[in-house]
Amino acid sequence: MPVTYTAKLDEALNRLHVEGRYRTFIDIERKNGNFPHATWRRPDGSETSITVWCGNDYLGMGQHPVVLEAMHEAIDATGAGSGGTRNISGTTVYHKRLEAELADLHGKESSLVFSSAYIANDATLSTLPKLFPGLIIYSDELNHASMIEGIKRNGGAKRIFRHNDLDHLRALLAADDPAAPKLIAFESVYSMDGDFGPIAAICDLAEEFDALTYLDEVHAVGMYGPRGGGVAERDGLAHRIDIINGTLGKAFGVFGGYIAASAKMCDAIRSYAPGFIFTTSLPPAIAAGAAASIAHLKRDQTLRARHQTQAKILKLRLKGMGLPIIDHGSHIVPVIVGDPVHTKKLSDMLLDGYGIYVQPINFPTVPRGTERLRFTPSPVHGPEEMDKLVRAMDALWSHCALNRQELSA
Ligand SMILES: Cc1ncc(COP(=O)(O)O)c(C=O)c1O
Repeated sequence: MPVTYTAKLDEALNRLHVEGRYRTFIDIERKNGNFPHATWRRPDGSETSITVWCGNDYLGMGQHPVVLEAMHEAIDATGAGSGGTRNISGTTVYHKRLEAELADLHGKESSLVFSSAYIANDATLSTLPKLFPGLIIYSDELNHASMIEGIKRNGGAKRIFRHNDLDHLRALLAADDPAAPKLIAFESVYSMDGDFGPIAAICDLAEEFDALTYLDEVHAVGMYGPRGGGVAERDGLAHRIDIINGTLGKAFGVFGGYIAASAKMCDAIRSYAPGFIFTTSLPPAIAAGAAASIAHLKRDQTLRARHQTQAKILKLRLKGMGLPIIDHGSHIVPVIVGDPVHTKKLSDMLLDGYGIYVQPINFPTVPRGTERLRFTPSPVHGPEEMDKLVRAMDALWSHCALNRQELSA
């Protein structure tokens, strides 16, 4: 009896369709100098001008002249790719400069650049037990998939603590052998609810139980702290974090990820992590653009300040209309719809009827029943765009409340 590969694929895909969480990618073309505006290419080939409200180019740095200039210069000087792994001809002055910029950003001795923050999390967390035999990792239950994967694959012991629950974390730490090496892995800004991790209190517990700390600042770097070093920098806590993880692809507007830590920690990860060793290094132009972006955001407070103001204004206005938004005081604006089909329908209506692009967020990215639209206002969203969004949400929300059947259709 032959294996029915195609039927199995159909079954797997159908499961997603039935649950209403089959992912459809929207084909968009960003226009240089025009973000958050873009062109949406419909499946029939026709084009519509849209405003992107769900991107993670949080500060618009993806089209900032300083970044583009650095990338053009590097590409003209060195060409496209790096041509090798970091070990075999792929370490350039651009990579070294970027790593120095990152170490300085976080006040650490060293940093290591990876292909993405996903890879940085996965590669680092899956390697740590090789360095610390018997390591137990304590992981917040809402940690990003990249941390979960790294922790799962590492073959070491893991404990999952309830989200931001310090009592639970303490109980788990206290239940383990005091002599066992330990690491607490958590995030500074949880990207789907926009709430903050209790960094100081977790550092206190880490000190008490002699554990290392690992902080994912992917949704904070560039945006928080006087130089964009993240929430740990803002709160004067970066020195208490052993390993900081960040991305170059969101607020810094380019691509790639990294960890920043002690020279010895980075040296050990550099030497043992397959996800760092056995892959081509970032193209030099990417490294140059990222370094320019970081350097710029160390000095420029205006984008950071405007970003926070924009988020506050949007939350106030949506709240004023009685929409169920989550507000933890960060830059992320989630509106809970609570049903995958309704969320998709609302997103389609916004796109089709108003040229507003906000991708529906479903399980497994968020728990079932909390499906949502996640808005990411930026400093480059103007007052007109904000007005248009608020009016559209007002109209659709009232319309949908009266027409639940239409949403379910
Ligand atoms: C919390 C968190 N960590 C890590 C990542 C991965 O970042 P990157 O896009 O650089 O791979 C993401 C991506 O969305 C994230 O939300």
